[in-house]
Amino acid sequence: MKEQLQNIELRAKKELESVKDTAELESLRVRFLGKKGELTAILKGMAGLSAEQRPVIGQIANRIRADIEDAISNRLKEISAQQEAKRLVSERLDVTLPGKKPQIGRVHPLNQVLNEIEEIFIGMGFDIAEGPEVEYDYYNFEALNLPPDHPARDTQDTFYITDSILLRTQTSGVQVHVMEKKKPPIRIIAPGRVYRSDAVDATHSPIFHQIEGLVVDRGITMADLVGTLDLMMKRLYGEDCRIRLRPHHFPFTEPSAEVDVLCFNCGGKGCSMCKNEGYVELLGAGMVHPKVLKNCGIDPEEYSGFAFGLGLERVVMRKFGINDMRMLYENDMRFLEQF
Ligand code: DAH
Repeated sequence: MKEQLQNIELRAKKELESVKDTAELESLRVRFLGKKGELTAILKGMAGLSAEQRPVIGQIANRIRADIEDAISNRLKEISAQQEAKRLVSERLDVTLPGKKPQIGRVHPLNQVLNEIEEIFIGMGFDIAEGPEVEYDYYNFEALNLPPDHPARDTQDTFYITDSILLRTQTSGVQVHVMEKKKPPIRIIAPGRVYRSDAVDATHSPIFHQIEGLVVDRGITMADLVGTLDLMMKRLYGEDCRIRLRPHHFPFTEPSAEVDVLCFNCGGKGCSMCKNEGYVELLGAGMVHPKVLKNCGIDPEEYSGFAFGLGLERVVMRKFGINDMRMLYENDMRFLEQF
């Protein structure tokens, strides 16, 4: 029996060396020391021993059990340490590696400036109005004092859909929609896409954006127009910005003006960007023509108004010093990331 016990001890210790994980360790413990294990099986045979042999064998069995338990718990420590070391290696991170920069989207420069202009006008009590891009000839031309044979129609190469339906060439038609629906006082801006059959180059695109402005009330004068535009330009381009009005002609305003701003490049001294003018043209404006008011059911004897229309692309290009309009549409990330 003593030999059997020593044999168990030997085998248990030998097998322990090749145990690789805690599950194997547990099954080994059950096999040797468990209730149905080898050691227990032998101890059951002790009943047949003599009274002198029994304590001797009992002592040996207890020592062997304790030894095996010790060996198991030592092996457990070894295995745990190995597993921990493995885990640490697999989870190692090099905190000195440069991080991956997340790609953060941003607002397109056209929308940045549009948002800015909208904020400026909302601050002055204007509402934002919208009109359709597929428009009736009536709203785009006729109601704006451009009858069918008017020569000014030729200057806006129009995409016609039918004889009376077209892609709007200007946002000015929104003026008519607004005045038809709402009685003065009216204070709106109407941003939107417009279409002209132009070839693409650095300063032209068949699709571009305008922002229309319209104010109608009693006693509105040219001074209100100048004051509004001056404030807007100073907010947009800085306090040093100055505007200048030149007489012009638009069928839907009388008198009409083209509005220039001080050249951003040379500050008025004259350079290649402003063609030595010191100023660059930015928008058209004027006092709403009495015929237009009348067409929209507003009495020109009682009310007057001013209107303006500016090209968003032009404003954006001037603001950021962009010299080719196509960059605004190509969505080249190297360009867009700069804003
Ligand atoms: N609609 C004109 C254009 O596209 C711009 C314009 C000029 C708008 C004068 C106006 C205005 O409202 O009063 O060239």
